[in-house]
This record gives sequence, structure tokens and C-alpha cells, in this order.
Amino acid sequence: MFEKIPYPDDLKERYELGKAQLQGLLDPAYEEVTNDANAVALFASLIDNINWVGFYYLREDKLVLGPFQGLPACSVLPAHKGVCWKAVDEKKPVYVDDVLSFPGHIACDAASRSELVVPIFRNGTVVKVLDIDSAVPDRFGETERNLIIECANTMSGL
Ligand code: SME
Repeated sequence: MFEKIPYPDDLKERYELGKAQLQGLLDPAYEEVTNDANAVALFASLIDNINWVGFYYLREDKLVLGPFQGLPACSVLPAHKGVCWKAVDEKKPVYVDDVLSFPGHIACDAASRSELVVPIFRNGTVVKVLDIDSAVPDRFGETERNLIIECANTMSGL
């Protein structure tokens, strides 16, 4: 059973609790989609002021939509365009504080104003990305970004 609890205001405490919950939910014995669906649900309640969070799976030259919470989104992201692909190509998290100023940004939810994308690895290779959008410009400060990235890194290696 999972009970909705108020997360601590302190960001470090908040994400430490979130990371512990995530580690409790994930199990390599489960289907990838099962782990990812639960992870997305957890991120949606853990991270304040976001309008979309979900996975895109790397499939050859495409990123295809996985489990998410938010408005219906682009099913396929064509290669090497947009924020998600930048995270895949650079093999590192990408933060865009103002998506309207990012050349090639792919708008799925027109309300999104800032975006954080974290690549997820298996055996050293990017297999998917976790994409987090907010309707608030520059929503993710450096401290919270790093805590979210640390949490998301729990997904790597599964
Ligand atoms: N904005 C992303 C596309 C995915 S949606 O935000 C859900 C991008 O530019 O890759």
C-alpha cells in the first residue's frame, strides 16, 4: 500500500525520502514498464509545480513515448531534435530554463516553459530519458536539479 504523505519542505530531506521510496518500489525482476510506471507516479507527487513527467525509450533512431503523467504527448521524437535528444546525444542531463528560447524544442504541452531531461543508462549505454516539464519558467534551481538527477540515477542499471 502507498499512502500520500506530505513531503518535507527541505529539498534535501524531500528528495532523500523520495529516493528511498523509489528504491523500495523498483525491482529488476519486474517488467521495465512496471518499474517506470511506478517511478513516474512517484516523481509526479514528489516534484512540485510540474505539468508533465515521463519516459521516452530509445529505439534505434527514435525516442518513443513510455509511461508518463500529464497531457497526452508526442508519441515519437524524431532523431537529434529537441531537448530529449540533446540529453541522449550528450549522454548527460540537460536543463532548459526557457524552452521558448531553445532552438528545436518540441512542444508537446503548450504550457511547458522549462524542462529537465535526465538520460538513463544500462551497461553504460543510454536506453531512455526521464523528461520533466514545468509551466514555470526556470522552475528547477541548481540544488533541486541535482537532487532530481540523483533520484533519477536510481533508474540507471535496472
Ligand atoms: N520537449 C521535449 C519533447 C517531449 S515533451 O516535452 C513531453 C523535447 O524537446 O524533446
